[in-house]
Order: sequence, then structure tokens, then C-alpha cells
Amino acid sequence: MKKIIIIANWKLNGNKALVNKFSKYFTSNIIKYLKNNIIIMSPPVIYIEQMKKLINNKKIFFASQNIDYHETGAFTGELSANMIKEIGIKYVILGHSERRENHNENNKLIAKKFNSIKKNKIIPILCIGETKKEKKLGLTDKVLKKQIDSIFLKCGKLAFNNSIIAYEPRWSIGSGKTASPNLINKILKIIKKYILKNSFQDIKVYMQYGGSVSCDNIKNIINQKYVDGVLIGSGSLNFKNFKKMIKISSKLKI
Ligand code: PGA
Repeated sequence: MKKIIIIANWKLNGNKALVNKFSKYFTSNIIKYLKNNIIIMSPPVIYIEQMKKLINNKKIFFASQNIDYHETGAFTGELSANMIKEIGIKYVILGHSERRENHNENNKLIAKKFNSIKKNKIIPILCIGETKKEKKLGLTDKVLKKQIDSIFLKCGKLAFNNSIIAYEPRWSIGSGKTASPNLINKILKIIKKYILKNSFQDIKVYMQYGGSVSCDNIKNIINQKYVDGVLIGSGSLNFKNFKKMIKISSKLKI
């Protein structure tokens, strides 16, 4: 049976009180549904230690929402991959469209971050996705392949071994509009095959979908053959909804 990887991206949300409530709810109500799920929590980095202590379960993993590609030095306000590794973080989200848009992160910069993440033996969760305009122009595959190619170029042909790719169409993030399960499956298949073909070896790469995932659509999304999991933004902040989604996912029989 396939295990579903569920990533909770809290973005710039939460505070100590929410972490406290969420973690307590998590231990008493959610932990029991872990059997078929791999849960990766990504609150803002400063709350990770608090959440980790409260949940206190080795099967729950944590992700940073960003890193700087430098290891150390005069880079005020930044955190490096080796620093987040030191506090037990095993994953990093990068290439998220909110960072591409709000922080002008381009493919070249994202590839440098990917490189630093891999060098530090952390698992990258690379977000890729097209804009509404690119979709309208029929450029989706081209845009996604370009985002993938920049990583190959910087990190070599085995770059994607043991990594997660999250297809997150920009038009679906936070909009309530999800790509249809068929389309998600089709795109994930194209990207996975493209990565495998260019890796020249049988590597392990896991495919996710993200963008307005909710209690109503999660079942049909994770039921798709090429979907290994979902990246949930706003839906992961409400712990009752989050539990519902994990419960649905735990019942999946693939
Ligand atoms: P959303 O965000 O679930 O709120 O659409 C997903 C994401 O940004 O990863």
C-alpha cells in the first residue's frame, strides 16, 4: 500500500498559543491515523522546537519553509541548511510561488538553495507551478520542465534522488480553485517521467499536489496513481479539518 505524504505549510501564520493547542489536539486525535501517512509539519521555523517537544513522536517530521544557500557569513536575517539541520529539521520547502513572486526568487537562485539542501543531506520539497497566464497560453509543461532543468543543470543528473516535487499551480494556491484530479495525475506523470528519463538511473522521487487542498477534494486527489501526497496550506491551520484530511488519507487503499 502506498504511504501518503502530507505536508502542512503554515506560511506566516501561527503563534505559541496555536502551536500549543494544535500539538495537544494532534497527539490526542491525529496520531492514531498515522499508519498510512507520513506527516511533515512546517510551521514558521521558530515554532518547530516547541511543536516537536509537545508532539514528541519520532514519526512526525518537520520542514523549514525556506533557507539561504550560503552556509555562514554576513547575511543578516537568513538561516542556512546546516543550521536548520542542527535542530532536527529533515525537509525544506523551496521554490514556493509565494517566494518566487514576493521575494523575486528565480530558477537559478532556487537551484543554489536545492544544492545546499542536498549537500546537507536534507530532503528538498521543490515547488513548481505555472501562472494562470502561462496555463492559458498552453505553456504549463514548458514552464515546469524549465523549473526542473535548472536543478539538473546545477546539481547533476542524480539531483532528484530522494526528493519531493510539489506541483502547485500558482492560480490554485489560496484561491479555492483546485486542478482537476485527472489533470493533476497527467502533469505529475509527465514530470516524473521527465525526471526519471533525465536521471539515467532508477531514482526515488515523490510527487505531490498543492493548491486549495481541502476535506472535500483530498480523497479524489490522493486516489490518483501518480500522487504520492499533498501540500496543504491554509487547510492545515484548522486542526479539525486537518484531522479529517488525515483520516480520509489513512483509509485510502492503493
Ligand atoms: P493553500 O496553499 O492550500 O492555502 O492553497 C498551498 C501552498 O501554498 O502550499
